[in-house]
Amino acid sequence: MVNVAIDGAVQEAQPDELLIDLINRTGVSVPHVCYHPQLGPVQTCDTCMVEVNGRLVRACATAVADGMKISTKSAKAAAAQVEAFDRILSNHLLYCTVCDNNNGNCTVHNTTKLLAIEHQRIPFRPKPYEVDNTNPFYRYDPDQCILCGRCVEACQNVEVNETLSINWEDPNPRVLWDGGSTIGESSCVSCGHCVTVCPCNALMEKTMLGHAGFLTSLKKSALSGMIDVVKGVEPETGYGAILQVSEAESAMRSHRVRKTKTVCTYCGVGCSFDVWTKDRHILKVAPEHGPANGISTCVKGKFGWGHINSEDRLTTPLIREGDKFRAASWDEALDLVARRLSDLKTASGPDSIAFISSSKCTNEESYLMQKLARAVIGTNNVDNCSRYCQSPATQGLFRTVGYGGDSGSISDIENADLVLIIGSNTAESHPVIATRVKSSHKLNGQKLIVSDLRENEMARRADVFLHPNPGTDLVWLSAVSRFLLDNGLANSTFLDQWVNGLEKYRASLEPFTMEYASRISGLPQETLRTVAHMIAEAKRVCILWAMGVTQHSQGSDTSTAISNLLLITGNYMRPGTGAYPLRGHNNVQGASDHGSMPNSVPGYQSVNDPEVRARFEKAWSVPLPSTKGLDNHQMVEAIHAGKLKAMYVIGEEMSIVDSNANYVDAAFEKLDLFVVQDIFFSDTCRYADVVLPGTPSLEKEGTFTSTERRIQRLYQVFEPLKGCRPDWMIIRDIANHLGAKWSYQHPSEVMDEIASVTPLFAGVNYERLEGYKSLQWPVAANGTDEPLHYTKRFAFPDGKARLFPLAWVGVTDAPNAEFDFHLNNGRILEHFHEGNLTYRTEGIREKVPDVFVEVSPELAEERGIQSGTWVQLVSRYGQVRVRALVTDRVRGRELYMPMNSTESPVNRLTSSHADAVTNTPAYKEASVRMKVLPEVGESPLPRVNSRFGHPTPQNGVEVERKWKRADYTPPGNGLVQLQTKK
Ligand code: SF4
Ligand code: SF4
Ligand code: SF4
Ligand code: FES
Repeated sequence: MVNVAIDGAVQEAQPDELLIDLINRTGVSVPHVCYHPQLGPVQTCDTCMVEVNGRLVRACATAVADGMKISTKSAKAAAAQVEAFDRILSNHLLYCTVCDNNNGNCTVHNTTKLLAIEHQRIPFRPKPYEVDNTNPFYRYDPDQCILCGRCVEACQNVEVNETLSINWEDPNPRVLWDGGSTIGESSCVSCGHCVTVCPCNALMEKTMLGHAGFLTSLKKSALSGMIDVVKGVEPETGYGAILQVSEAESAMRSHRVRKTKTVCTYCGVGCSFDVWTKDRHILKVAPEHGPANGISTCVKGKFGWGHINSEDRLTTPLIREGDKFRAASWDEALDLVARRLSDLKTASGPDSIAFISSSKCTNEESYLMQKLARAVIGTNNVDNCSRYCQSPATQGLFRTVGYGGDSGSISDIENADLVLIIGSNTAESHPVIATRVKSSHKLNGQKLIVSDLRENEMARRADVFLHPNPGTDLVWLSAVSRFLLDNGLANSTFLDQWVNGLEKYRASLEPFTMEYASRISGLPQETLRTVAHMIAEAKRVCILWAMGVTQHSQGSDTSTAISNLLLITGNYMRPGTGAYPLRGHNNVQGASDHGSMPNSVPGYQSVNDPEVRARFEKAWSVPLPSTKGLDNHQMVEAIHAGKLKAMYVIGEEMSIVDSNANYVDAAFEKLDLFVVQDIFFSDTCRYADVVLPGTPSLEKEGTFTSTERRIQRLYQVFEPLKGCRPDWMIIRDIANHLGAKWSYQHPSEVMDEIASVTPLFAGVNYERLEGYKSLQWPVAANGTDEPLHYTKRFAFPDGKARLFPLAWVGVTDAPNAEFDFHLNNGRILEHFHEGNLTYRTEGIREKVPDVFVEVSPELAEERGIQSGTWVQLVSRYGQVRVRALVTDRVRGRELYMPMNSTESPVNRLTSSHADAVTNTPAYKEASVRMKVLPEVGESPLPRVNSRFGHPTPQNGVEVERKWKRADYTPPGNGLVQLQTKK
C-alpha cells in the first residue's frame, strides 16, 4: 500500500491504482464523464482534471504513487473541470425534463449538477447529421452525442466487434458505424454494449424512447416547443432551477419504473442484468453488476424479449379432443393428468412413465421434476436436454478429473496465454465469453487456436485455424498428446505428482502418429507440430469446446482426449488453465446438477448407491427405485417398443430439436398420455393430450446455474400472465393431485431442501445469492464456493487425476455416393436454438427472417447456386426444402444449416446414431444429397444482417487523434472566468 493526500486527507491506496478509482472509493466528488470502470481510461472528456503535486492531470489516466499530493478542488483544477464540461455541453442539448434518459443515472445531467453549472459559456452547436434510426433496437442522435467515446471503446475493446469509431479529424466529429455506414447496414451485431455505456441519451434503446418519462411521449413539435421554453428561461434562471424541475420529474418516474434483477434465459454464459419495466412494458435491459458479464450482453439478452408479451402465449390449459384441443380449467387439467398417470402406473408400472425436464427452467423446477418422477411415480425415467449436447463433455471430465463442469471461471479463460476452441462457434453461441477471448487476443497477446469445420468469427481471428475432416478431432488431439510425450514436452513434474494412468494412456496413443493423424484429419503434420509447440510453450492453456465435439458418435471420447491433453501439459489446478465445455442453454448445467438424470439424484449421486438412496428416502419419506432409468434417447426407443406409455415434458421442443425428428414424432403419436408444459403451442404440443401453460423466466423466481457452475438468482419481473403458472407450481400441483402433500410456497424452500440432501450444494441458500451475489459449486456448508476447481486435489479419492486411454472408431453416417455432402448444423447469433423465443422479437426477425443452408462458393459454382436458390436436402431420414446462402464460411462439399426453423428443421435430416457412452445423438454426423430446385428467391439473409458489414478495427477510441486537432487545447490553459454557482 502507498499513502497519498487527497485535499489534505491522507489515504491508503494500492500502488498503480487509478487515481479516479481511489477518489471514487474515498467518496470525494470529482466529475468524470468518459471514465467507466469496466472500460478503463478513455481520456476524451477532460472533466476529471485534478492537481497532482501542482500539475493538472487527468485523474482517470494517472496511477497513484506514494506521497502524491492531490487537490481536486484547487482553483486550477475546478476551472479546468468546468471548462472541460462546458465543451461537452456545446455538443449536447440539455432538455432533461423531456428526456427519456432523465432517470437519475444520466452522467451529463449529474455532472451539470455536481459542477453547479448555471450557464454555458460555449453555446450548443447542432451537428450537421440526421438521427440514425436504422437499427431495430437502438438509435443514435448525433446532436446529443458528447463525443466521449465510451461506445467506441466498448465496441472496439470489450465486445471487439470493431464497428464504431469517431472521425476526429472531421470539422464535425461524430460516431461512425463501419466508418460511415448506416447502423442498419453496418457490421453492428446489436449487442448493446455501446448503448449500455453511453452516459447520456445519444444512444438509446428504442423501447425507452417515448416511454420512460411522463412528458417524453409528446409529439415532436410539442417537445421542441417545451425545449424552446426551457432555453428561453435559462439565461434568467440558470440551470439550477431547471434541473430541479427535471429532478422532480425523475423522482416521479421512480415510482412507476421497476428495476428487477434477472438472469438471461438464453445461453449458458449466465449474463445477469436489471430489467427496467413500466407496467408490462420492458423499457430496457441494463447490464452492469453481473459477475459473469458486467456491461456485456449479446443481442438476445439485451433485446430479445419479444416472447414475454407475445400474443401467442398460452394462457389456459388445453385438453385434446380428437384432432382438436379445447380450453380447460387448471383443476380439470391437473385432475386429468393425475388420474391418467395413476391409472398407467397401476396398469403398466411406474417405469411405463417418463419425465423430461427443461434446461430453460430453474434449478428448483428441475429438482421438483425429478422428485415427482422418483418419489411420487417411482421411476428413474427422468432426463433433460444435456443428453443432446453436454453429457459427453461431462463424461470426459468425470473420467479424468472428477467433476463434470467447467474447471474454472470465465476470468480464467480471459487470463490464459493460449486458448484452444474446438467445435464451438463461440462468437455466436456464447457471445459474451467470446468477447473476453477476443479482447485478450486483441489487447493482451493471448494466442488463439480454433478447430472447426467452418471459418467462423473466432476462426478468422485465430493464430492457427484448423479445419479437420468431420469427426476427427480425437485423432489430432491424441497425436498432439503423443508428440508432446514423445518429445519431452509434457509436464512430467505435474504428471508425477498429480496424475495416474500414464503408462496405459501412453500405450493407447501408439497408433496416433503425426502421419496417421494427418491422413485421417486432413491437417498438415507441420501445423499439428506448431500446435503442439504452442501448447507446450504457453504457461496457461484453456480449452473450450461445445457441440462440434460432443454431438459425435465419439463425443465422450473426444471430450476425454481434450482433458487428457490438458493433464499431460499440467494445465489444471492453476488460474488461467483448464477445461471449459461451454454449456448451451441457460440452465443446462443446473438441470443435470439437480438430478434430472436417469442415473443420479441431485449432485451426481448415483441412484445405485444405497447410502445415497437411504438419505433421500429419509428426506422424502418414500422408498426409491434403485435401477437406472431411461435417458431421452432410450425413451424414444422404448415408446416405439411399446414399453413406455406416458411422458411429461417441460419446455423442450423435442419434435424439432431431437435428432431424427421424424422418428421422434412417430414415437409421440404412439403415447397413451403425453403432457407438454410450455409457454407457446410448440410443435411438440401438436402431439400432446394435455398442454399446460408455464411461464418464462421473467415471470418467476428461482436460480439458474451457468457454464462456470455459477448459481444465480432470478427475481420475478412480471406477474405470471393471467392463466399461466410458474412451472414449479405446476409440478407441485401435479404431485399434490397424486397425493404427495408438497407444501412449497416459494422456490427458496425448494433450494433449502436441495442443500439439505446434496453435499455439492450444502451451503446454497437464497440469502447467500441475494441480488447479484452468486456461488460457484461445490458450495460448502459455510458458504465457501469454488470458482477454480482442483486447486488442492482432483475430485477422486486419492486426489489424483486419471489419464483415460482412447481409440478412434470412425464416424457414422459418413457421405457416400448416394449422400455425397456432409451436413453440419448449429446455432447462429441472433436466434436461440430452434427460435421459438427469438422469432417473437421483431428486430431479430428483421436481421434473420428464416433458416438457410450455407453452401461454399466452389460448390455454388459447380451446381449453379446463388444466395436465394431453393434446394432440397435429402438424407437417409428425411428431407427439407431451404434457400441457399453462398459463403466462404464453409468449404468444398460441407454444408451448414442453422437450427432456427420450425418449418424446415435440420433434424428432419439427422440420424439416431449416438455417442456410445452417453447416448447423445451424433447430430454433427449427417450426410445428405442436394437437389437444386428451379426457384430462386431473395437471399435468405437480408442486407441488414451484420455479416454484410465492414468493421473498422482500431485500438479503442484513439483519443490522441483528438488531441492533435488544431482547435484542441487541454482545459486549464488560458482559462477565462466562468460563471459558476458559489
Ligand atoms: S456491435 Fe453494435 S451494438 Fe455492439 S457495441 Fe458495436 S455498435 Fe454497439
Ligand atoms: S454516442 Fe458514444 S460518444 Fe456519443 S455520448 Fe454516447 S457513448 Fe459518448
Ligand atoms: S444469450 Fe448468453 S451471451 Fe447473450 S446475453 Fe444471454 S447469457 Fe449473455
Ligand atoms: S474521465 Fe478522465 S478524461 Fe474523461
